[in-house]
Amino acid sequence: MNILAIESSCDETSAAVLANGLLKSNVIAAQLIHEQYGGVVPELASRAHQQHILPVVERALNDANIAKTDLSAIAFTRGPGLLGSLLVGASFAKALALGLNIPLIEVNHMQAHILAHFIDADGDVALRPKPAFPFLCLTVSGGHTQLVRVNGPLDMDVIGQTQDDAVGEAFDKSAKLLNLPYPGGPLIDKYAKTGNPLAYKFPMGEMPGLDFSFSGIKTAILYFLRDNVKANPDFIAQNLPDICASIQYTLVQMLLTKLKRAVRETGIREIAIAGGVSANSGLRAALTKLGDEQQWNVYIPPFDYCTDNAAMIAIAAQFKYEQGDFTAQTVSPLPRMSF
Ligand code: KG4
Ligand code: ZN
Repeated sequence: MNILAIESSCDETSAAVLANGLLKSNVIAAQLIHEQYGGVVPELASRAHQQHILPVVERALNDANIAKTDLSAIAFTRGPGLLGSLLVGASFAKALALGLNIPLIEVNHMQAHILAHFIDADGDVALRPKPAFPFLCLTVSGGHTQLVRVNGPLDMDVIGQTQDDAVGEAFDKSAKLLNLPYPGGPLIDKYAKTGNPLAYKFPMGEMPGLDFSFSGIKTAILYFLRDNVKANPDFIAQNLPDICASIQYTLVQMLLTKLKRAVRETGIREIAIAGGVSANSGLRAALTKLGDEQQWNVYIPPFDYCTDNAAMIAIAAQFKYEQGDFTAQTVSPLPRMSF
């Protein structure tokens, strides 16, 4: 069984091939054009997807050494994401499935981030340990922050989520205030490595239950920087590692506070993280330590499967293929798709 999967929900065009359950290729073309605008420009993103999609798919098939005619199904991201970007991947997938007369499989991007934990790549020395069902997943990306109870591969409930900004947005917007280029999350991570996380204190806010809010800390950082730069115009340049480490520490603590509460409320001790922000070294280290202290089984995805990629779309599609869960040609993208 050979699945070709396509991901185009935001600003990465990606294609992957999963053959008999093993990942054979995962090609990702990032769009650097957005850096100069300080964020993703939707119109430019869909144009770039149009340019990238054919070469990316061809490379994924070549790398996997699989001919189009050997494919069993075509999978694509139906949502959530930017409409124009989703349309490029969906149209391409539909046309290819129709032309090859094979099934089409729609995938929810947020479910796919979680299912990335089940990817085994061809050539991996050892199979990675997989979370057992039910598990809790903290899904943290540029557009979402969710606590999900994962009952089965395709049976998930969101038990908490952000009421405003996503945590990835909080990283990126903080980075912008520090004059760092987009996307700033990885740069905050980089500078934080040599800084003191307790140098500056930011308010974590109070959000009831398992929901999150990151708009308050964003405003607090804005005022903090404005006041300090007024007193010393070189404040940011002179203190960048300490500022980044303190921001990262606060955001990670906000995430882990809710995760601890979710464990208390559900009694589930199988804990996973997923999404772009799960690449953050501060989050990975803090969760590993907390897991040891609390005796949780913690699952952290390899870096390649944290940020957007088609390998995660392929593994999600495999679960659907096994259940015969196929999609009609009349399908259209859902920018605000929920589970
Ligand atoms: O999952 P993803 O690739 O795309 C969405 O579905 O949104 O996540 C992208 C987000 C961006 O906000 C980016 O800054 C953040 O993930 N990110 C990081 C790191 N790597 C990516 N944030 C903090 N530290 C990182 N190392
Ligand atoms: Zn994503």
